[in-house]
Parts: sequence; structure tokens; C-alpha cells
Amino acid sequence: MALKVGIIGLRGIGETHARAHSQNPLAKLVAVCDVVKERADKAAAQYGGKAYASPAEMLRNEDLDVVDVCTGGYENGGWHFEPVMAALAAGKNVLVEKPISNDIHEAREMVRFAAEKDVYLGCNLNHYFTEPARQARQLMTDGKIGEPVYCLHRMGFIGGEDIYKPGGGPNFDGFPYAHLKAFLAHPFSLMRHFGGDITHVQAFMDRPSVRRHAGDLMMSIASVHVKFHNGAIGYLFSSRGDATMGLGGWWSFEFGGSKGTFCIENCVEKLTYYPAPAPTDKLGLGEQPTPVVTNTGVKDFGATFPARINAYLEDVTNQVPKSKLRASGRDALATLEYTFAAIESYEQGGALVRPHALPTLKRDLKDQ
Ligand SMILES: NC(=O)c1ccc[n+]([C@@H]2O[C@H](COP(=O)([O-])OP(=O)(O)OC[C@H]3O[C@@H](n4cnc5c(N)ncnc54)[C@H](O)[C@@H]3O)[C@@H](O)[C@H]2O)c1
Repeated sequence: MALKVGIIGLRGIGETHARAHSQNPLAKLVAVCDVVKERADKAAAQYGGKAYASPAEMLRNEDLDVVDVCTGGYENGGWHFEPVMAALAAGKNVLVEKPISNDIHEAREMVRFAAEKDVYLGCNLNHYFTEPARQARQLMTDGKIGEPVYCLHRMGFIGGEDIYKPGGGPNFDGFPYAHLKAFLAHPFSLMRHFGGDITHVQAFMDRPSVRRHAGDLMMSIASVHVKFHNGAIGYLFSSRGDATMGLGGWWSFEFGGSKGTFCIENCVEKLTYYPAPAPTDKLGLGEQPTPVVTNTGVKDFGATFPARINAYLEDVTNQVPKSKLRASGRDALATLEYTFAAIESYEQGGALVRPHALPTLKRDLKDQ
């Protein structure tokens, strides 16, 4: 039977979620809620469900299986805590937009409380719910990557000084770390998805002169050096439209192992596998085995939303062990711990920082 879903926050991203739920047979969109009631009314008219202006009223009146929180707020995550905690307190499964919060203490509390209530807390870390990421994971499972060696990731909005506009709206203005808190959840989630837990972080950050002159406080470029628990090393570059990236464009991910390397370009679009040379290969200097390219033909990043939401609905429908939930609240907390470690490193002039430990994973009985 379809899960009864209620969405909180119905602006840009909430509407995207409403469309995805309304088109997914695993979901029945029964309620939509926004403090600006007209937004809830508009979504109800377009995608179905009853419109509410108050999350408390929605939770009181509706028998929901899933509450999908798409609020924004300061640093694009400042208004997640209240509705998420209210939904968890009501015993509901929750999917929350990234970042899980802009406040690390709130994020830890949400993950702790979801475990106490024994419900599914997921986060919309949508960048690896794609065909290239699925095939890359298969390469790892098939032993075609081998022992992880390195990870190189670049992700950021295209831009440059000619299209720069001062002021990013109330969620960003005056918050130097807003870009990092709102955005790094995505690249860190990718790095951890393929490379596992990160144990060491060192970061440099800045903002180019065009921002300085405009009085814009945003730390918009970040260069983050990491070490993974498995011994591999990694690097992340992220930017918020200060420069247009060349090789790989706005989104490129490279993961190298002792047996082979894979690269994903444009998130949803292209996977390339570079096998390591075999002993029988006769290669000159500068030559390497022929890479294998898979082009999905998909270019639209929007495809990640229905794919990620479907994965959450599947996991809840199938009642998978909580520890097996894909892109869980705990996974999202990991990305925020890394972000806070990067900020701490920057504030200490590039010091090496060990991210705060994650809560221990509890095994469900059915996990045995
Ligand atoms: N996953 C992605 O690829 C992706 C992309 C962009 C944004 N996001 C995230 O999606 C979230 C939403 O982004 P947005 O741009 O749609 O935000 P927004 O601020 O434009 O809209 C949020 C809506 O939530 C409503 N709201 C806020 N608090 C509420 C509450 N307590 N109860 C009911 N309604 C409430 C607001 O009135 C508003 O209509 C953010 O966390 C953002 O970081 C994710």
C-alpha cells in the first residue's frame, strides 16, 4: 500500500518533491504545508493533498507515514530542526532536505532522536542516486577498482565576475559560511559514498576580490584535503560561481584504485572506466589501456530528485533495517561534521582537524 506523505515547505524544492511523490506509485501525497498558506494551496491544487499552514495542525489531523521536510531558512538549513523534531516526536518517518541543519548540535540531536523513536530519518543527498553512480558502485563490487587510493572531486556553480551579483538573499547575506554549510553536503556525501568515512580534514577558503569589494562576506571558494579511514587520500574543490571550471565542468568526480579508476562527469551524464594496465599490456610512456565510456544521454540534474525520493520510499516500504537506509540522517550528519571540521581548519589557518565521531550504528534485530 502507498505511503501517506505530507510535505512541509512548498517553494522551489518542496514543489519538486511534491511532483516526485505525486508521480510515484509508492507514495500518496495527502497533505502539503507551508506557513505561507497560498504556497500550500497552490501545491494542493496542482499535486493533490490537503493544504495546511501549520505543521502541528497537519500532524494532528493526518495519519501520515512520511513527513518530507523541504523548509529552507538561514544558510538554507536553519528551519529544518523544528518541523523535523515535531514529526519525529509524532513517530513519523522523515525525509529532510540537505543540509540536515546549519547547526551541528541540532543535526546531532535530530539523528539521536530519530534513533530513539526508531523511525527512518533520511536526507535528500540526491547526487549519487544516478545511473553513473550505480554503475561505478558495480565496478567496485566487481573488483574492478581494487584498493581505494585517491579521490578527486570538483563541484560548484558556474560563474565569473561578469555575472556576479552581490547579495544572495536573506538565507545567505551576512553568513560567511552559508555556501559551505548549504552546499558541501553534496560533494562530501559523494566522497563518503565511495570512499567511506573521512578521518582527517584540512581546508583553505577565501572569496575573490569581486566579492570583497561588494562587501559580500561569503567564503565562496574552498580547497579541502582529506584522508579516509581506509587510508586513501582525497581532495575537494568547491566554488559558488566565482570561476567556471574547465575539465569536467561544474561536477566531476574521480576515484582511483589499485585495479582501475572511474570518473563521473555532470553527475547524471557520463561514466568513464580507466582500467589499470595488465602485466601483458605493452604500453609506451604516456599510453594507457583504452577507457570504457558510458554515456547515459541524461543531462538534466533534476532527474536526481525522483530517483532519490523513490529510494527512500522503497526503503521505508520494504522496512529495511534502519542501518541500511540509503542516505540516512546519520549519513547527512557525517557530511555536516566534515563541513564543520573544514571550517574549523580554515579558522585555524589550515590546521589538521579530526571530524567529530558519528553515533554508533545500532543493528536492528532483523539485521542479524
Ligand atoms: N537537494 C538539492 O539538490 C537541493 C537543491 C536546492 C536546494 N535544496 C534544499 O532544499 C531546501 C528548500 O530550499 P528552497 O529553495 O525551496 O527554500 P525556500 O526558502 O525557497 O522555501 C522554503 C519554504 O518553506 C516554508 N517554511 C519554512 N519554515 C516552515 C515551517 N516551519 N513550516 C511550514 N513551512 C515552512 C517557507 O515559507 C517556504 O515556502 C533547503 O534546505 C535547500 O538547501 C536542495
